[in-house]
Amino acid sequence: MQRLLILGGTGDAVELARQAMNLPGLAVITSLAGRTSAPKKLVGAVRVGGFGGEAGLVEYLKAAQIDLGIDATHPFAAQISWNAAGAARKVGIPWLMLIRPGWERLPQDNWIEVENIAAAVTAIPASAERIFLTIGRQQLAPFASLMDKWCLMRSIDPPDSDILLPPGELLFDRGPFGLEQELKLLQDYRIDAIVSKNSGGNATCAKIIAARELGLPVVMVQRPVMPAGEVVTDVSAAMKWLVKYLDPIPNSQLPTLNSQSFPK
Ligand SMILES: NC(=O)c1ccc[n+]([C@@H]2O[C@H](COP(=O)([O-])OP(=O)(O)OC[C@H]3O[C@@H](n4cnc5c(N)ncnc54)[C@H](OP(=O)(O)O)[C@@H]3O)[C@@H](O)[C@H]2O)c1
Repeated sequence: MQRLLILGGTGDAVELARQAMNLPGLAVITSLAGRTSAPKKLVGAVRVGGFGGEAGLVEYLKAAQIDLGIDATHPFAAQISWNAAGAARKVGIPWLMLIRPGWERLPQDNWIEVENIAAAVTAIPASAERIFLTIGRQQLAPFASLMDKWCLMRSIDPPDSDILLPPGELLFDRGPFGLEQELKLLQDYRIDAIVSKNSGGNATCAKIIAARELGLPVVMVQRPVMPAGEVVTDVSAAMKWLVKYLDPIPNSQLPTLNSQSFPK
């Protein structure tokens, strides 16, 4: 058996594990950071928790006898991607990054593009009073300085109880979200502006289309820089990459055909 490590935490990682499990001669292990209390159901083996930086991941790759790996983490999970690219290079195993494309700005969009979350806080238009923060729960604290705004903060799980938050309301929900749903949410809450990461993908893109239709500004946080290496943008391309590295199955392990089982 060859052993594949998938770094997960995304819908693409779930789908990749499901498809990779069908390849003969391959054991699939997905690694999760453990941030979400009820992660999506995964097929194959799952391990949870940080590795302890690049050095810890080097040790893990050796101890778990990983033959090849695919980083299918979120496009904003840069730390683990840098650690993993470095660790894979040190251990000398094939390594791929599966990074879905970002959303493209259309002429009708009113995007204010910023480099990071800190810049997003100051880029919110002064005229916008009610803000929809769709950046997850881990980076809400910088927005606590917005004492004169009201924020709707959507995430899968609640933020840690000790972090400061801006005035507003927490909303717990998990995508995919539909366009009608997002239009209704923006209108019901009388939202004036949205803050989003340029995560890409279909599951959460409806809010961007809804903002376009309603003419709302979107403060769009650009993606962090990722390490150099082999990159694909979807699961089917990742599967093609994987197949290249799989050992051929010896004839002795192929299922034997029993001629009597053929229909006459
Ligand atoms: N950032 C986002 O916007 C976002 C959105 C949706 C989902 N996610 C998912 O949430 C997880 C954490 O994201 P993040 O932005 O906090 O990551 P990050 O900043 O890149 O990583 C921080 C640390 O978390 C641990 N870690 C991250 N992903 C891991 C994984 N798949 N398996 C084991 N350990 C992992 C590593 O700890 P050690 O150094 O101890 O190894 C890493 O150094 C990722 O799996 C990501 O795919 C992130």
